[in-house]
Amino acid sequence: MDKPMVDNIVEAGARGEAELTSVRSLKQLEAWRIAHLGKKSMLMESLRGLARLSLEERKQVGARANEVKGLLEAGYKEKLDRLKETEFAAAVASQSLDVTLPGHPVALGRLHPTTQAVNEVCQVFVTMGFEVIEGPEVESEYYNFEALNIPRDHPARDMWATLWVDQPGLEGGQRALLRTHTSPMQIRTMETRRPPVRVVVPGKVYRYEATDATHEWMFHQVEGLAIDTNITFADLKGTLYEFARRLFGADRKARFRCDYFPFVEPGVEMAVDCFVCKGAGCRLCKDTGWIEILGAGMVHPEVLRRMGCDPDVYSGFAFGMGVERIPMLRYGIEDIRLFYGNDLRFLGRF
Ligand code: PHE
Repeated sequence: MDKPMVDNIVEAGARGEAELTSVRSLKQLEAWRIAHLGKKSMLMESLRGLARLSLEERKQVGARANEVKGLLEAGYKEKLDRLKETEFAAAVASQSLDVTLPGHPVALGRLHPTTQAVNEVCQVFVTMGFEVIEGPEVESEYYNFEALNIPRDHPARDMWATLWVDQPGLEGGQRALLRTHTSPMQIRTMETRRPPVRVVVPGKVYRYEATDATHEWMFHQVEGLAIDTNITFADLKGTLYEFARRLFGADRKARFRCDYFPFVEPGVEMAVDCFVCKGAGCRLCKDTGWIEILGAGMVHPEVLRRMGCDPDVYSGFAFGMGVERIPMLRYGIEDIRLFYGNDLRFLGRF
């Protein structure tokens, strides 16, 4: 056997093992790997002479070399694992990561209180067989007033201070406006449908009014319309009574009083007994014991005719309610302007 060559191999192994014990970092380990297992390492250099040995010798020396190489590689692998572990532990410690600390709370978005109320109201009517539809906010004078039995110069127009829209070219010289209520959708609905019809229409409405605690120039309504044969005032009362009970509580009482809207006859205003004082009188109901929640009535024969429905065959009821009032009553919110002031301290509470 080629003595000097084997000696070299053995020495390469001994040196490698000795130096490995003083390796303290991954960086040092990489340097060690290059020095002792790399192409220019003593081990590899000493193997270069293999070619000139006899076959027999080559086998013996080669086996020896492989043994040494295997030992060095095993040492390397073990050291690598250990160093990785210690370096990870050191990194964790130096970042002082305390996994038991509570996390940062994530601010979740939520639905606007008006949207929540709209959804709730619509849901109640959906369970009673109504369909939810929507309509345009920029309307023509025809749908907002004329078709609803409110001609130009009719004094009832004063009930709806109007924001006009400068938009020429509407059909028939019609003036455009921001709808003052959702009632125009009564007419639009009946242009494309035949009875039986049961729809509710949520949406924004606009009034040309100075704002104060109970008035906004934009707010929301939900309109309702039911047209069929044999619909009576009892259906109106039954439906709205049931609605009030589902929304405001099962023990709610309802009160209907005469009211005037040009597009219904008879027209009513509906109130529920105050759910704060149970009718005894408090600040919320202004000591009356009752809270008005909507306007309603039997669809006026003239309006039915406009809808293409013979009033001798068909009848129906309609209602309209302000949406913001619902959370105001429920949570005791005293200023409607809070709804659209975009103050997150307010909005974040719902
Ligand atoms: N549109 C009316 C308003 O805004 C409410 C209403 C709707 C009344 C339907 C009767 C029937 O005041």
